[in-house]
Amino acid sequence: MLGRLNHVAIAVPDLAAAAAVYRDTLGARVTAPQALPEHGVTVVFIDVGNTKIELLEPLGDASPITAFLAKNPSGGMHHVCYEVADILAARDSLKAAGARVLGDGQPRIGAHGKPVLFLHPKDFQGTLVELEQS
Ligand code: CO
Repeated sequence: MLGRLNHVAIAVPDLAAAAAVYRDTLGARVTAPQALPEHGVTVVFIDVGNTKIELLEPLGDASPITAFLAKNPSGGMHHVCYEVADILAARDSLKAAGARVLGDGQPRIGAHGKPVLFLHPKDFQGTLVELEQS
């Protein structure tokens, strides 16, 4: 089921400042900010060749990363995203194995225009897992 690591996501309190660190200090190419109101975040991506880094900033009052940033005020690693060939088949097989899918269990369109789902961190070694259809 598990495909390539699509990205590692880092939640940050200030997206412009974090993007500047990657661009100016680390010399990386950073994409323009992309608002994802349905996910409650604004994101940028940094392509590091074998995978990507996603920087996430809260968007709106009900952002799912607000509580995370309250606990980690300077930011921190938030989730890993794996590619799967068939997201509905992956969801059904994971649910049958007892894993919890967050939200209503229906894939939403993510930052790359492809369906994504999130899996409960308590079922995956304390790490929030995003699945993206490849
Ligand atoms: Co992500």
